[in-house]
Amino acid sequence: MVQKVSKIWFEGEFIPWDEARVHLLTHSLHYGLGAFEGIRAYRRADGRTSIFRLDAHIQRLLDTCRLCLIEPRFRSEEIQQACVELLRQNDMTEAYLRPLVFIAEGAMGIYVPNNPIHTAIVAWKWGAYLGDDALRLGIRAKISSWQRHHVNVSLAKGKIMGQYTNSVLAKREAKLGGYDEAILLDTQGYVSEGSGENLFVVKRGCLITPPLSGSILAGITRETILTLAREEGIPVREERITRDELYLSDEAFFTGTAAEVTPIREVDNRAIGAGKPGPVTLQLQQRYFDIVREADDSHPEWHTFLHALASPWPSRACPAPRRRRPPRCPPAPLGPPRSPRPLPLALAGKSAPGAASTPGGSPSRWGCPMARPGASTTTVPPGCWRPTPPPARPSGSGSSSKTTRSTPPAARSALAAIALRSRSPPAGA
Ligand SMILES: Cc1ncc(COP(=O)(O)O)c(C=O)c1O
Repeated sequence: MVQKVSKIWFEGEFIPWDEARVHLLTHSLHYGLGAFEGIRAYRRADGRTSIFRLDAHIQRLLDTCRLCLIEPRFRSEEIQQACVELLRQNDMTEAYLRPLVFIAEGAMGIYVPNNPIHTAIVAWKWGAYLGDDALRLGIRAKISSWQRHHVNVSLAKGKIMGQYTNSVLAKREAKLGGYDEAILLDTQGYVSEGSGENLFVVKRGCLITPPLSGSILAGITRETILTLAREEGIPVREERITRDELYLSDEAFFTGTAAEVTPIREVDNRAIGAGKPGPVTLQLQQRYFDIVREADDSHPEWHTFLHALASPWPSRACPAPRRRRPPRCPPAPLGPPRSPRPLPLALAGKSAPGAASTPGGSPSRWGCPMARPGASTTTVPPGCWRPTPPPARPSGSGSSSKTTRSTPPAARSALAAIALRSRSPPAGA
């Protein structure tokens, strides 16, 4: 059971947990079009709370909205600031944050271009997603009878609400069969991902994960692990993996914001390697936890520290001002987005300079050499699939006036100062 906390952020206001309700005709409840994210905030060894990779998560939330042709009235900086402030208002030093952008009630039917788009953020305490033992000992997984959506059936790069019926069915099947988690294959039969995690295998010291061109979510933890592996000198390849290659791998693990780095010790009743977490998995798991929880400060750009941000909202003692609603809710944009951003390289089908391409996999990948320090053969170019900065909003445009409406006055000046920014604490803080 989720333990309720004091406040939920809803459309620019902090409202009591019990008052955060939606109408039964909420469009997303019926048809599933909407975006969501899952973000963790950790209390680190030095006592500071860090929201891990907040900007990347909010960028993916907005990318998902873009894929869905829905437009929240808040900009990235505003949603990030709201995440920070929500933790403050709830006195939380550790949390799982769940931003949502959904289509509210209004018209019914499939085509509802004028229904309001609502944005909310909920925070709660969430321990190890697959259990503490899972992180330590590894889990038992089952290849699902359900397949991941074909890339022309749904939008795999979006974290879209309705797409998760596929994950829920796979997870239920796995749990009812006595397993901990499902592994879904794609419609061509290659390994795709877990119900809510990306998947990695290790073969002869080489780390292998399915490519972003497949039907997988572009996991932020996946990208984090690829970066860390490169730094550790572990060879990395993004290639298709077949079911038998998975069975014969030396190690396997899941990554995800919720699942963190969870070893897989068994797939379909076949032990993976020695049937316990292997050395590469443990090395990367350790490095991950050192960064999110301990004192590894090698990636300051991944942290948003709570105390580093000035609060634009009034103190908890006074209620947040009620934001005046615009006279009429703006229609969801249909047709091309107003400010198209260049797609990340990986989506645009281009390879970055110097990036080796290994589409479809190559027979040689199972003969990959053992990791040598500094001898990374990663195919992931630095900067590939990094979140794109939000587009500059032209002054006087409809969007900027919406922003003005939705942002408390004190927030606007503070937001300018945030500038995605003060990742490191001010001196003496
Ligand atoms: C289907 C799916 N794959 C992978 C992931 C892992 O993504 P991330 O590491 O960004 O949490 C998630 C979780 O969001 C997911 O739902």
